[in-house]
Amino acid sequence: MEKNKHVNKGLIFVLVAIVLLVISIFIFYNMKSNVTDEKLAKETSSESQKKDKKPTISSTSTSTSTTTTITTTSTSTTKKITTSKTTKSTTSTTSVTQTIREVASTTSKGFKVEYRAGAYYIGGILIANKSYPLDKDYIPSGTHKQASSSTTHCADCIIEDGYLAFQKMKEAIKEKGIILWIQSGYRSYSLQNNLYNGYVKRSGKQQADTYSARPGHSEHQTGYAFDVCASKDGKNYPCITSSFNNTEPALWLKDNCYKYGFILRYPEGKENETGYKHESWHFRYVGVELATKLYNNGSWITLEDYLGIDSKYDN
Ligand code: DAL
Ligand code: ZN
Repeated sequence: MEKNKHVNKGLIFVLVAIVLLVISIFIFYNMKSNVTDEKLAKETSSESQKKDKKPTISSTSTSTSTTTTITTTSTSTTKKITTSKTTKSTTSTTSVTQTIREVASTTSKGFKVEYRAGAYYIGGILIANKSYPLDKDYIPSGTHKQASSSTTHCADCIIEDGYLAFQKMKEAIKEKGIILWIQSGYRSYSLQNNLYNGYVKRSGKQQADTYSARPGHSEHQTGYAFDVCASKDGKNYPCITSSFNNTEPALWLKDNCYKYGFILRYPEGKENETGYKHESWHFRYVGVELATKLYNNGSWITLEDYLGIDSKYDN
């Protein structure tokens, strides 16, 4: 009897020890997996922050006037941007050196390259392409409807002259029974970021770069450009797709938009110049004089060719 008691006590002790061991192992593994999840979450968040940090220029000024000039270090290249801040009470100069990209101070066709308030102007024309990015915070002013920092997209946030010209073009094409509208006008940096990343997921970066601008590189952020869609007799034409090419509105626009100051920004066969596939629905306002030159009697010249610039990413 005495011996059985000892055996029972021993068994209970071993059982309790096993249970405690199992509980400890369970707690240990649980903690470990929580730590791993936390780390992953942190890495993902810092990774997406890293991705958001485009090698573009950030607008740092809260002062009353900001002048940004490109300091040319050689005849053809610059990497340094000096931002001069002027405040009402004091005048101070803050040098902000950022690696942006190498740009010529004048283009191969002799146009002056300037950088002001978050955008490049070449020969006085605001340029947003693969080589010339916009500041992340760049929001156009002088638009029919003013976009704010929380606006993601806005069909009416088009530079006023362009907006009025679009109304005229819309009236003119209506004579053909075609109803035209702006499907996509102003797009913020963050919306473009979402769109571009969606396309990369869908077709890979290399393909996406042929038809979608990376954030900060889209003309839609300038307020000068828009995508149109159209209908006739109550039936919609294919919208923002290559199936729009060669439809009645696409052909009319290609040969008439210049009369209203618009250019077909990504013409067929000019992918090497613009950096993008042909888009029969994307128009950019430049004014009648320049648009007429670029129309070139039906053989569209690209802005890149006219200005002597390229449209290429560094990576
Ligand atoms: N589809 C044009 C290139 C853009 O994304 O701005
Ligand atoms: Zn577009």
